[in-house]
Amino acid sequence: MTALLERTPAPLVRPRRSRATAAVREMVAEAFIAPRHLIAPYFVTAGAAGEVPGMPGVRRHTADGLLRELERSLELGLRAALLFGVVPAEEKSYAGEAAHDAAGPVPSALRLARQAFGDDLVLITDVCLCGYTDHGHCGLPSKAASRLVIDNDSTLPHLAAMALAHAEAGADIVAPSDMMDGRVSWLRGALDDAGHGGVGILSYAVKYASAFYGPFREAAGSAPGEGDRRSYQMDPRNRREARLEAKLDAAEGADLLMVKPALAYLDIISDLRAASDLPVVAYSVSGEYAMLKAAAAVGALDEAAAVRETLLSMRRAGADLVISYHAAEALRAGWLS
Ligand code: PBG
Repeated sequence: MTALLERTPAPLVRPRRSRATAAVREMVAEAFIAPRHLIAPYFVTAGAAGEVPGMPGVRRHTADGLLRELERSLELGLRAALLFGVVPAEEKSYAGEAAHDAAGPVPSALRLARQAFGDDLVLITDVCLCGYTDHGHCGLPSKAASRLVIDNDSTLPHLAAMALAHAEAGADIVAPSDMMDGRVSWLRGALDDAGHGGVGILSYAVKYASAFYGPFREAAGSAPGEGDRRSYQMDPRNRREARLEAKLDAAEGADLLMVKPALAYLDIISDLRAASDLPVVAYSVSGEYAMLKAAAAVGALDEAAAVRETLLSMRRAGADLVISYHAAEALRAGWLS
């Protein structure tokens, strides 16, 4: 052993030199996360406000309540919010008409927020029918088919109507999350025809059929009653297909591309970063949030460090922006600095 030690040459290259002190580490750090990289998601309801089961710290807000929450977020340095609507079961229908009701929770919240904050806050809205349909699917089930088929083309005008209702109420950006083919060009056309050429599209371009949406479906009351979403959301086994989806949405006029979920799909974020010049957005979904909260609650890990590490992993993979339910809490508690 001693002989061996004597013969071992000293390493020439020592990466540890660049880790020696906090100041050196700070100097050579590659990825970082600032408030402007974060988008905070919010649930806005036509019913009663309250905590979302399975997502400790996340609430459903009334439009008024949301305004107060957004004000606090602005004070923390957040500049972008993604809004989801929640309507009571009796307002849901086969075609989800409540999705484009100008008096619905999302348009109401948009008008209030625009009035209160002007252009200080980027208002983004989720465009999808699943929270508004009585069957809970993101599109319309075909009435002709003998098995459950979500009809692509007859869904598109309904999504366009929803995007228009949001644009008219003041959305900066609409974010279609339905995964119907051709919906970005449909939305682009409908917005342009109605004089909303300045409203952007953040496409959920690469959205996988994922187990990590569980708590969200509880929050939005949007779980499908029959069947699942695998005939329209992507298969987790596929990597190449993500590039196809991203390419199509970019060609159809998307302004930003999203990958969802984030943590289990860092390879996809990295691929899109390399393949596209559009901003890439990672959506760290409800199940990712719930997983960290649950682990922290039993003392299995340090929540602050784990949140920082996971958000950084998404930025390091190539995401320009990250949507996270932890956004406001992480900034308030100083977890990211
Ligand atoms: C609507 C939609 C979903 C999410 C965002 N938009 C649910 C789904 O597709 O089932 C999930 C977000 C989350 O889990 O945080 N289609």
